[in-house]
This record gives sequence, C-alpha cells and structure tokens, in this order.
Amino acid sequence: MIVTPAVRDYLDATRPAADPLLAEMQAHGARERIPILDAQSGALLHVLAHAIGARRIVEVGTAIGVSTLQLARALPADGELVSYEIDPGRHAAAQAYLERDGLGARVDLRLQDARAGLAELDGPFDLAFLDGVKAEYEEYLDLVVPLLRPGGLVAVDNVLMSGTVAENRSDGHWTDEQIATARAFNERLLHHPQLVATIAPVGDGIALAARR
Ligand SMILES: C[S@@+](CC[C@H](N)C(=O)[O-])C[C@H]1O[C@@H](n2cnc3c(N)ncnc32)[C@H](O)[C@@H]1O
Repeated sequence: MIVTPAVRDYLDATRPAADPLLAEMQAHGARERIPILDAQSGALLHVLAHAIGARRIVEVGTAIGVSTLQLARALPADGELVSYEIDPGRHAAAQAYLERDGLGARVDLRLQDARAGLAELDGPFDLAFLDGVKAEYEEYLDLVVPLLRPGGLVAVDNVLMSGTVAENRSDGHWTDEQIATARAFNERLLHHPQLVATIAPVGDGIALAARR
C-alpha cells in the first residue's frame, strides 16, 4: 500500500461503483489470481484518455482486458486500441468481455509478444499503456516513444511495487531483482530526453510521461 489506509479507504468509498461487466472482470481476476489494474489506476487512465482526446491507444499486457476496457471506453466510436497479450486464454477472455461491452470494433487484440508487435506498428498514437513483464519495460519504452505523437502520453503501471521501490527492500512478493530493475527504469524514464515525466502514487504507482 503506497497511501495511508485512511486515504485508501476514502478513495474506495467515494469512487463510483464498477458497472456489472467491469465488476465481473475484476472478480474473475481476483478468483484466478490474474494481476489486473487497481481500480483507482483504471479510473485515472480512463480520465487521462478522455482528457487528451485519445483516438489511438496502444497497450502492452491485455490480460483479461480490465485496463483495455477502461481505456477503450474513453475512445470515440472511430477510435482504435491495439493491445498485446501472449497468454492465449487471457487473450480470448478479453476478446469476449470487450465484445460484450460493444467495443469489439474499437479494439484490436493481438496474441503476440508486444516487443515484436510494437516493432512493426505504425504510429502516431495518443496514449501508450505499459503493463507487461516488468523486466521488459525498458524495451517497451524504447519501442513506444517513437510511436507517440508530440504531447502523447505513456503510462506505466507498478512502478512503485507496493512501496518496495521506495523502501528498496523486498516484501516477499516483489523481489530484490525486480525492485532494482524498477528503480533503474524509473530513473531512466524521469530523465528521458524525449519525455517530461512524473510518478503518481496511485494504485501500485503509475509513471506518466508526455512526449516533448
Ligand atoms: C499485469 S498483467 C496485465 C494486466 C492488464 N493490463 C489489466 O490491467 O487488466 C500483464 C500481462 O502481460 C502479459 N505479457 C507478458 N509479457 C508480454 C509480452 N512480451 N507481450 C505481451 N504481453 C505480455 C502477461 O501474460 C500478462 O497477462
């Protein structure tokens, strides 16, 4: 937890309740121990996509589509979201959920390693969301920055890893190696010459960076 319990409770109590489909997806994630986006982070991404008028979004790590749903719902009817996932079962589940929400035409879910997919993707994109394997974040970043329009946003999840990144100490879940990798990644992102960046202590820590 990276905010106080009182703040967390307040945010949970005041956030509008998830609609039935999103609640079903969140329950699916919890039941099968699939790492899905924290509710507060999902709301933040949804607001940001709206705020920048995103029309094209790219995502690394669809899982069962929780973050995909919240991003895609902010798109206009002719908008597009490309999302990569390497697990066939999760990819299929996400496809089914997004079709139930009427978002099938707006989302292009690809069962492919994002590193290969991003390398052949044509920009520009308004927003990129990185949420795959943490050790691969640097590779994703190098591939998405050239795809962003000037002013385009890249959001990266889990950059504080339950607070362990700040404490620089494993909690038994996040390992010392993962923490060291995250600290190096954050340092690089915050000083990236093509980005203006910050870290928001929301959810598990979300880095937000805009292309200069
Ligand atoms: C943290 S989960 C994504 C959660 C999802 N963004 C959400 O909030 O609902 C990470 C996902 O990335 C997938 N993944 C890992 N490496 C990948 C890669 N190189 N390319 C595409 N997907 C990858 C994993 O299979 C996993 O389902």
